[in-house]
Amino acid sequence: MLQTTFLDYTYDNPLMNASGVHCMTVSELDELAASQAGAFITKSATLAERAGNPEPRYADVPLGSINSMGLPNLGVDYYLDYALAYQAKEPAPLFFSVAGTSVEENLALLAKIQHSEFTGITELNLSCPNVPGKPQVAYDFPLTEEILTKVFQFFTKPLGVKLPPYFDMAHFDQMAAILNQFPLAYVNCINSIGNGLYVDPQTDTVVIRPKEGFGGIGGEYVKPTALANVRAFYTRLKPEIKVIGTGGILTGQDAYEHLLCGATMLQIGTQLQKEGPDIFQRICQELETIMEAKGYTTIADFQGKLKTVD
Ligand code: FUM
Repeated sequence: MLQTTFLDYTYDNPLMNASGVHCMTVSELDELAASQAGAFITKSATLAERAGNPEPRYADVPLGSINSMGLPNLGVDYYLDYALAYQAKEPAPLFFSVAGTSVEENLALLAKIQHSEFTGITELNLSCPNVPGKPQVAYDFPLTEEILTKVFQFFTKPLGVKLPPYFDMAHFDQMAAILNQFPLAYVNCINSIGNGLYVDPQTDTVVIRPKEGFGGIGGEYVKPTALANVRAFYTRLKPEIKVIGTGGILTGQDAYEHLLCGATMLQIGTQLQKEGPDIFQRICQELETIMEAKGYTTIADFQGKLKTVD
């Protein structure tokens, strides 16, 4: 019932982890592979291993989470080794995330993937809000266009981009016009809402150490923004560019709404962090129950078919 074709492969269901959650180490990745997730993605890699920002750098808060991880990761070679071993034994294409902290690093990461035996799907993260002194690339429209122009001069494997949330119709239009120039496989909407602030009411302090408490917000807080971005890009991008929906998926109803707005695959971050990989089975069951109640037998029956008010 939940089978989802993405590029040329049909996954058992559309659910995945969001990059950054439960995907730093081989043992976490193996747990995702063994879970009911339809697909999974690695932690955004840089060329060299990074320790990331000082702890505490993630906090669960009442309606979601706040984080300023700062791209801790074990380096691109670690994840590439995992990916090559994984694809030698499993047919489902793996998603591989990279996030350079400069144009040059992004190009070098993608060149490494291009020249490797990797046959999966690459996600270029243009939206990490947590590296001090490095603004989110995808809020700089000319820079985004410059990077994608350079990337597609040599990169021929399936590539998607992870976007930050946008909050203005003009920005949806401008970013979609840029993205539509390129042979992208997908866009992933959204990364966390960058640079929020949470105050602990008992102590009057922030709850994470980096950046004086500023960090990316995820979870229930972000679902309406995520749905708006999924819908805005689904209705503006050429049909070859699919949309992955990320943000505020806690239940089957949340998953259903992302699909209704036009998402093809769905990523779960905060709630996976809170609940662990058993979440995928729960959300699949809840989504199937909703589809059965509405008389749908496949996701295609309702995907993208959001109604508006006349
Ligand atoms: O800080 C981090 O590692 C998060 C990255 C992201 O949100 O893309």
